Amino acid sequence: MPVSAPTIPSAGFRDAAAADNKQVPIHRWVPWIAGYSSAFVQDAFDHYLPDVDDATILDPFAGVGTTLIEAQLRGWSAIGFDINPYAAMACRAKLSAAGIEPDELADLITEYQATAGDQETLIDTGALNGCRPTSTAPAGFKTRIDFYSPRVMQKVLFTRDFIDSVENSALRDLMNLAFASVMVSFSNYSYEPSLGSRPGAGKPLIEDASVVEILSSKLQLMLDDVEWLRGRESGSDEWAVYEQSFLEPECPVHANSVDLIVTSPPYLNNYHYVRNTRPQMYWLGFATSPAQLRSLEETNFGKFWQTVREQEPIRLDFEHSQLAAQIEIIRGLRVEKGIYGGNGWANYAATYYNDTFRFVSRIHDVLVPGGAAIIVVGNSLLQGVELKVEQHLGEIGEMCGLVCEDVHIVRQKRVGSSIVNTGAREAAGSKVMLYDAATVLRKPK
Ligand SMILES: C[S@@+](CC[C@H](N)C(=O)[O-])C[C@H]1O[C@@H](n2cnc3c(N)ncnc32)[C@H](O)[C@@H]1O
Repeated sequence: MPVSAPTIPSAGFRDAAAADNKQVPIHRWVPWIAGYSSAFVQDAFDHYLPDVDDATILDPFAGVGTTLIEAQLRGWSAIGFDINPYAAMACRAKLSAAGIEPDELADLITEYQATAGDQETLIDTGALNGCRPTSTAPAGFKTRIDFYSPRVMQKVLFTRDFIDSVENSALRDLMNLAFASVMVSFSNYSYEPSLGSRPGAGKPLIEDASVVEILSSKLQLMLDDVEWLRGRESGSDEWAVYEQSFLEPECPVHANSVDLIVTSPPYLNNYHYVRNTRPQMYWLGFATSPAQLRSLEETNFGKFWQTVREQEPIRLDFEHSQLAAQIEIIRGLRVEKGIYGGNGWANYAATYYNDTFRFVSRIHDVLVPGGAAIIVVGNSLLQGVELKVEQHLGEIGEMCGLVCEDVHIVRQKRVGSSIVNTGAREAAGSKVMLYDAATVLRKPK
């Protein structure tokens, strides 16, 4: 049964723009291309689980944990999945924040400023006199231009020495997270929102920067938030973060156990979470070679256009004649462009929707009868063909035995619409707007 076009707005949701998380305690620790803000999650909780003391919340694509943190703040159980080790680490560190002793963190910041601050002064005055950091840059991390200027690199390595010397593992994790969240800001790369060189984005190289100052102000902000948490009454210790695909055959979440899912899977826009977190993956030791990143690309929801574009035609492995026909239209476009033409993009769309089907079947299993899933996705333009992912999601939900209760637009103009700049998404002359939408699926009682 076709799902009707999205309505604006439905349940009184606040703007879903994830950029709003930049101002909010705990959420502001790590920037991420997220599907929504903490305010959106609060509204979803208020609307779909009003007046409950206890609940189990799942985010199968947790990113840096917006849903999980909001669940924890309400005293509910939170379960998250993410294949990206940096994202999983961010979730865990944020969910553990209430256990950090503010005084210990404050002392650590002071000690870091004294130790690495002195080393930076010696670098700046040319007075190192043979004093060398013991840390080295990760050998496997190759970039087109130097990731750090020689001077910044020295400062980074002294900071790494300090972090590695921290004995308390919770505090070391926190420092690693702080480092990972700011490390691109003093590099010769930037997010636009994909990772690219600064000169490529018309920005100057960074010859020098105070790593200590930048990292200290991040740590200070984290300390403020740890203190803010101390002042609150509620909070839950019941959480689990799985660094694995939600689509794996063995799922650690029990059937009929989840009250509410609030999530946002990767969009059908080829945003490459794996490549965009390469600096953090290598510098934190999560990856030492490209092969490790490739295996992550294979498990990523929908894979990536780069992963499937050279394969034989991939088709839907479930029945949806209208969507299958749209995918075949894409396959027939710009065939003369080889791997940049229609077949590659059709393969990507088919892979994405096949994963969507598997994902929706899995949420049908884990939801309690009567439980709901609020899934934020974006519409997509591939080779000029618009794919209304939110409506297809509703239709796939109905195929899997869920009821599509609502589809509504949560953000009318999507930021980051230029993520794929290959021309493959341009609809010649058409005025298709990219937006974020929430599809609400409910498991019947
Ligand atoms: C749109 S982001 C979610 C952002 C999240 N809402 C937040 O606020 O941080 C999608 C996430 O899905 C993760 N992901 C991709 N494939 C996955 C899979 N098969 N299983 C679990 N997570 C996956 C990506 O690493 C990414 O962090």
